[in-house]
This record gives sequence, C-alpha cells and structure tokens, in this order.
Amino acid sequence: MAFFKYLVHIWEKMDKMNKKTITLVYFSPTATTRTVLGEIAKGTGYDVADVCDITLSQAREKIPPKIDSSLVIFGAPVYSGRLPSLAADYFKQLSAPGIPAVPVVLYGNREYDDALLELKDICIQCGCQPLAAGAFIGEHSFSTNQIPIARSRPDKRDLASAFDFGQKIARLMDSTAKGLSCAPVDVPGNFPYKEPTIPGGVPFIDVTEDCTACGTCVSFCPVEAVDEKAGFCTMDDICIHCCACIKACPESARIMKQGNFKDIAVRLNKTCDKRKDPEMFFASR
Ligand SMILES: Cc1cc2nc3c(=O)[nH]c(=O)nc-3n(C[C@H](O)[C@H](O)[C@H](O)COP(=O)(O)O)c2cc1C
Repeated sequence: MAFFKYLVHIWEKMDKMNKKTITLVYFSPTATTRTVLGEIAKGTGYDVADVCDITLSQAREKIPPKIDSSLVIFGAPVYSGRLPSLAADYFKQLSAPGIPAVPVVLYGNREYDDALLELKDICIQCGCQPLAAGAFIGEHSFSTNQIPIARSRPDKRDLASAFDFGQKIARLMDSTAKGLSCAPVDVPGNFPYKEPTIPGGVPFIDVTEDCTACGTCVSFCPVEAVDEKAGFCTMDDICIHCCACIKACPESARIMKQGNFKDIAVRLNKTCDKRKDPEMFFASR
C-alpha cells in the first residue's frame, strides 16, 4: 500500500513538472490590462497557475508570491508614457529566476513611449527572461460617452490579436525548450525613461447629487483616495487619476471636474482619433 502511495506521489510530481503553467501579474484599475492578459493566457493554452492582481492596495500589502510557473506575464497601463509608479515598485519586488516572461502594456491610443521598455527592464531585474512583449490599446481612462478616446477598446480585433499573440508565445516557448536559446526581446523606448508629466494634487472629481452612497467607488479605488466620511469625495493628494471610481459608479455620479484633466481629455479626443493597432515583439533565435 505504502509503495502504491509512493508511486502515485511520484506520478503527481512528474505530472506537475510536465504541465505548462502561467502566472499573470498585473495592475489594472479600469480592467483593460486584465482583459488583454486573460486573452493572451487563453491563446497560450497553458494552465493559469496564479493570478496576482495588484490593483487594490490590500493586494500590494501582501508578501509578493513566489513565481514558479513555466511562464509569467506582467501587465500594466501606460501613465504619462511610463508605468504607474506603484505598479513598478511592486513588480520590482518579485523574483522569478530564469522564468520566461512577457511584459505587456495597455495604452489609450496616444503613445506608450518608454513604458514597455521600463516593464521589460523590470522583468530582467526580477531574474526573468523576456522572450516576447506587447503594447495593446485600451479605452483611455479619461474617455467618456461625451469625450470618447479609444472607446470600447480592446475590441474583438484586439482580443483576436491577443489570443494569436498567446499562441505565438507558446510556439516560441516550445522551440526554446528544445534548446534553441533567445536573446531578450527588443522593444521600443529610451533610457533614461521620460519624466512623467501628469500633475499631482489637482482637483479632479466632482460627486453629483446622483450619488446613492453605495460605496462602489471606495471598493474600486486602488489607493484608498475616496473619503467615505466626506460625501465620497476624492482626496486629491492621494488620487492617481486612474478613473476606476468614475467608470465603476453604477449611477454615473462621479465626473471629471472642469479644468486640467478635462482639457487633456478634450485634446486627446481630437488628436488620438486615428486607430492604432497592437504591436507584438518576439525574441530572435
Ligand atoms: C494618469 C494617466 C495617464 C495616462 N497616460 C497615457 C499615455 O501616456 N498614453 C496613452 O496612450 N494612454 C495613457 N493613459 C491611458 C491608459 O494607459 C489606458 O486607458 C489603459 O488602457 C488603462 O489600463 P487599465 O484599464 O488596465 O487601467 C493614461 C491614463 C491615466 C489614468
């Protein structure tokens, strides 16, 4: 009996070693990054071993998980041509020595500037081997019905590209497993990275009389900037302008104030109306 149990144990261990698994690590206040990463993962056909969603502060306070899957995908939105600093700071704490990685950024149809390079560099810092990378388009956080910017992206076409990207990653993984080594993937961007230009502490959100105090905004805010005791107002010195609370509000009771950010949204609506398509990069063998 003991010998039989031992055999089952060995078989389970070998099965686990042979299974191709994937870990997803992402920050995604308005869910476009999460959606695209999910579709890439589907395309690989790998089993999702772990999902490390660091959007909410409670998740970022936990000890970073040990990554021991066959592949890891890192995802984040582009903020001002860079990674959101709280996402970058968290990613840097991860360790995944020798694990193939895919950095992916989502941007709102303007530009991704140095963000993809920054994420690739972080993957290397974590000990990973970046073998592919992607820049996808998501509805801009500042987009509304009245001022649309990359409205409803990622759409069907984007998701088909994401799935196809996943399939190509799986094929590249197979060929590297056969001993064909790759140099790290090349991606656009410059170092030193550009300085982010979004101003801090600027009045951003108005809460209208449609607010029913349901608290949805509180639960969606990645930095706990919604003050429940003060009529669900946003604390401007903490807010990162991700617009998660605006998009999640079931009553559409949170709106962008007139001024700085609304002006940016109006400008982007005019200058970024030409559709951009996802870009995918692969390590050469
Ligand atoms: C503060 C801030 C800055 C942004 N900067 C850029 C930018 O430089 N270029 C761009 O194309 N989109 C920019 N965006 C749009 C987001 O990158 C885009 O909407 C992304 O899909 C959001 O990802 P998420 O849905 O995972 O939160 C910015 C959004 C915010 C909130």
